[in-house]
Amino acid sequence: MAQEIKVGRNATKEIDLNALHHNVKQIKRLAPHSKIIAMLKADAYGHGAVKVAQALTEIAALGVAHFEEALTLRRAGITQPIILMSSYLTAEQLQRACEENLQWVIHSTWQIHLLQQTSLNKPLHVWLKIDTGMHRLGFLPQEAAAAWQALQACEHVQKPISLMTHFACADDLNCPLTSQQIHLFNQVTAGWPGARSLANSAGIFAWPASHADWVRPGIMLYGISPFSGKTGAELQLKPVMRVKAPLLAIRTLPAGACIGYGSTYRCAEASTMGVIGIGYGDGYPRRAPNGTPVYLEGRIVPLVGRVSMDMITVKLDPCALPPIGTEAILWGPELPIETVAKATRTFVYELACQTGIL
Ligand SMILES: Cc1ncc(COP(=O)(O)O)c(C=O)c1O
Repeated sequence: MAQEIKVGRNATKEIDLNALHHNVKQIKRLAPHSKIIAMLKADAYGHGAVKVAQALTEIAALGVAHFEEALTLRRAGITQPIILMSSYLTAEQLQRACEENLQWVIHSTWQIHLLQQTSLNKPLHVWLKIDTGMHRLGFLPQEAAAAWQALQACEHVQKPISLMTHFACADDLNCPLTSQQIHLFNQVTAGWPGARSLANSAGIFAWPASHADWVRPGIMLYGISPFSGKTGAELQLKPVMRVKAPLLAIRTLPAGACIGYGSTYRCAEASTMGVIGIGYGDGYPRRAPNGTPVYLEGRIVPLVGRVSMDMITVKLDPCALPPIGTEAILWGPELPIETVAKATRTFVYELACQTGIL
């Protein structure tokens, strides 16, 4: 009988679409009167934008950063409105965006000029972005009325114009800025028709006054907490991603042996080590220190020595040795990504996005 051979790389990731649907339910429970723009930037935060979008047929709209991300979704047959949050577009790309039924966030006057000067076969749905305190993209409150009027007067812009802002510190419950941003946004846009959107994941959880017509969840969609010091599970979310890699070797090393590049870990006694097939080339953070938790066959084992490009070493209990090939879990339902992010002093969003390669 032919033996089935597993093809592929050592490190792999699993995406749990049931967990994704569970997290959508949580978003709907928290913001029951708002529609959802699912944020699929950076390949859905490393989870695979096409796979995630194909599972989110009940979600009203999708948000991406780049034009190419939107086209990839369209090529995969995704039909919902897609909002280009921070895309540079040429006149040609603008025409294509219009044909592909994309929406564009307008944050600068060059975009208004481009809309005025480019002939489109139908008006484009745009979102006017107001900078209420994030100070990244958007029109300042004192510039917003002129921008809105220019868009109102532009025949290539669909009416009513949608309105949005983005929070700088919504994950900090004690920061007064978020309330100020909500207030400023409401003040600036008072009397203007059009749908409004303010809330990211932290806004959905912590700032109900920001829910408005559309919420824009990113990280919570994937079961990850937007708050440092809290896990997704503590917020009733379920992790969508599980990253795993096989045990490649078990080594018994004498007292005094040092592990890996730079010899940064020294065995105080004779020790049994396991080598696992994942490294920084797969998105596992190189800065992970000794002691970073790894889940292996029902228990947590500590990482020892430096992370290599495609391998890490962990200390094993010689009385409980798993068979070669056993899949270690680097993060997932068994080991929260937030715990690994904290141990490695890595931003949890970055940890998820870096696995895009898997
Ligand atoms: C404009 C905008 N809205 C919403 C989000 C989603 O944020 P979060 O992942 O914190 O929910 C992002 C993410 O960076 C964003 O840039």
